[in-house]
Amino acid sequence: MTHARPTRTFAEACESVLREPDGEHSLYTTLAPLYDRMVLDAEEQDDYERHLRTLARHVPQTAETVLDVGCGVGGFLPFLEARFQHVVGVDAHAELLGFAARRAGHAMLVDGDVTDTDCALGRHFDAVVSLDSLTARFTDEELLACFQTVREHLEPDGVFVFDVVVDPVAVAEDAVGVYTGEGYRLERAVDVAPKPALPGVELRVDYRVTDIGGDRRATTKECISVRTFDVETVESALSTAGFGRVAVERDTGDEGTVVVVAQP
Ligand SMILES: C[S@@+](CC[C@H](N)C(=O)[O-])C[C@H]1O[C@@H](n2cnc3c(N)ncnc32)[C@H](O)[C@@H]1O
Repeated sequence: MTHARPTRTFAEACESVLREPDGEHSLYTTLAPLYDRMVLDAEEQDDYERHLRTLARHVPQTAETVLDVGCGVGGFLPFLEARFQHVVGVDAHAELLGFAARRAGHAMLVDGDVTDTDCALGRHFDAVVSLDSLTARFTDEELLACFQTVREHLEPDGVFVFDVVVDPVAVAEDAVGVYTGEGYRLERAVDVAPKPALPGVELRVDYRVTDIGGDRRATTKECISVRTFDVETVESALSTAGFGRVAVERDTGDEGTVVVVAQP
């Protein structure tokens, strides 16, 4: 399904925190306008350039169709559109796809969860990509289900390229970011804490929103569990999902992640 949901504004995101600081807030939902701004950071744009070079190494020039799994607000879509004739982005968070639609040119967008066994995208692809560690929030079962969905949508000679967090150093972020606009100031501070229940860490994100013209101020929190994988777990799930040829690239230019290239 092509998605054309209207997008929330930065002011609306700030108001949602000011009105309901104890509500559930996250970059994937109420704070999506902030996420949309974050992908414009020079560092993010450099990451997309690096992802494109990764694809150039592993995807044949003849490949014409590509699926971006977990496309989010569509930061990578313009890069894919410049390289591939047919681009589809899928994401499980509908709030993000409105932003992706504004950023995309010819890409088709699908509101879908790739860990659902009945996730159907209506065609097969020469390449499937998922870069920027979609898998970091997955359980073992979700990882396998995602790989099965990808396998079902890949051409017999297609290639699946994705990255996986293997060391928490990958998610160390700038400690504080400040964003202003439309009469509001939003500060975002990230703390990385050990997460004993998981191989991985918890990102504790604090947001402080100020209404510049008035006198309102509120804080809220988002906690994100980031799972690290060992490569053997990933290889085993790929094999179960029907991928016979798997290569792991360790020198990715992004500390703490590996790039995995899998083919049926
Ligand atoms: C870290 S973000 C990366 C976004 C994008 N690839 C980029 O680099 O800008 C991960 C994305 O995966 C999406 N996602 C998480 N679980 C998903 C699932 N089960 N199916 C589809 N998308 C999912 C999230 O909504 C989010 O947009």
